[in-house]
Amino acid sequence: MKFVLSDYHLAKKEEFRQFAEEEIDSGESYPRKNLQKAAKKGYMGLPVPKEWGGQGEDFLTYTLFIEELSRVCASTGVIIAVHTSVGTFPLLYYGTLQQKKSYLSGLARGELIGAFALTEERAGSDAASLNTTAKAVSSGYLLNGCKLFITSGGEADLYTVFATVDRNRGHKGICAFLVEKGMQGFVAGKPEKKMGLNRSSTTEIRMEDLHIPVSNRLGEEGEGFSIAMSLLDGGRIGIAAQGLGLARAGIEYTTAYLKKQQSAGNEPAESAAFTLAALATRLEAARLLVYRAAAVKESGGNCSKEASMAKYYSTDLAVEVAARCIDICGLSAARSTNPLTGYFCDAKATQIYEGTNQIQRIVVSRNLLEG
Ligand code: CAA
Repeated sequence: MKFVLSDYHLAKKEEFRQFAEEEIDSGESYPRKNLQKAAKKGYMGLPVPKEWGGQGEDFLTYTLFIEELSRVCASTGVIIAVHTSVGTFPLLYYGTLQQKKSYLSGLARGELIGAFALTEERAGSDAASLNTTAKAVSSGYLLNGCKLFITSGGEADLYTVFATVDRNRGHKGICAFLVEKGMQGFVAGKPEKKMGLNRSSTTEIRMEDLHIPVSNRLGEEGEGFSIAMSLLDGGRIGIAAQGLGLARAGIEYTTAYLKKQQSAGNEPAESAAFTLAALATRLEAARLLVYRAAAVKESGGNCSKEASMAKYYSTDLAVEVAARCIDICGLSAARSTNPLTGYFCDAKATQIYEGTNQIQRIVVSRNLLEG
């Protein structure tokens, strides 16, 4: 087993670092230009096979990209992570040939943006209790219901929407559907005002008697829940990589701050230096968890446990890094314009979406106790 990145992966990481630093702006509005630049480089479909318009890269390469991107702009990071892993992979893994032909290349090239619509008012962590209905009608289904906190809501072109054909069947009644933004009965709400990741659009989406042809059902009836769970396994590795990017940004900022203090003759307090050392050590541990989860996913094995471990460790660390670094940098970091406050707010969100970190602990403990 290798504990260092191969020369190939190191070169890709450096390429992504340069791209993120030189091309990605960390402004305030929806980062459309960033997405266009990423699309031009082929980065909207890194782990999608070339025959479907992607770059044919492995999953580790994709996680390296999300890390580098999120270090510079975590909003762009979450948009591309969601677009790729739970927006594009549904087609790659579960799409029929016709569905792939209709959507996959467009998604992989970044001409279409993908989104994932599972969460509801009373079905967040307990995703199987969702209430959006799919009523079978002669030519397909009628979808009715409301999804909340949808990343890229309103901006995305294609949504994988989960709905139940029969609530009495619990998770076995859930189906996945491919819903286009322009379909009649599709309504996107206003962007949520969030504490972090403010450049990404997060909205509710409503389906009001939205007619969907059978050809837009993904997988068989009743397979929707397993499809959602398996996609989230991959998605959580991307969010873990986002945590790495944010944690690294906080540590780098604080290291530079202490060095500047040093050169002005102010040696850092031992407590500050020790805190920095501990955070940097934990960052390396998080990196190993994330890269290992990516390797297990790439091998085709069940990566649920590894993905959840990586997700909660890395994103918990990102929050702690920001909080401790604000302590170290003191007054200057208390300004809302200081990057550390932005990292803190962005990192807090990464603990919550794609399954809260409490849910990740459930996944890990079930794997240990029931596996
Ligand atoms: N892969 C494939 N199938 C899986 C699976 C996986 N990783 N995990 C479970 N399943 C299957 C099981 O095998 C079982 O199938 P069978 O009945 O056929 O055997 C079925 O799913 C039910 O499994 P569980 O009994 O374990 O399901 P549960 O109801 O207890 O739920 C849970 C488990 C882990 C709590 C799950 O509900 C969960 O992950 N909740 C969090 C939801 C979540 O992450 N939401 C994020 C939404 S996306 C987002 O954040 C925003 C965005 O825009 C991306």
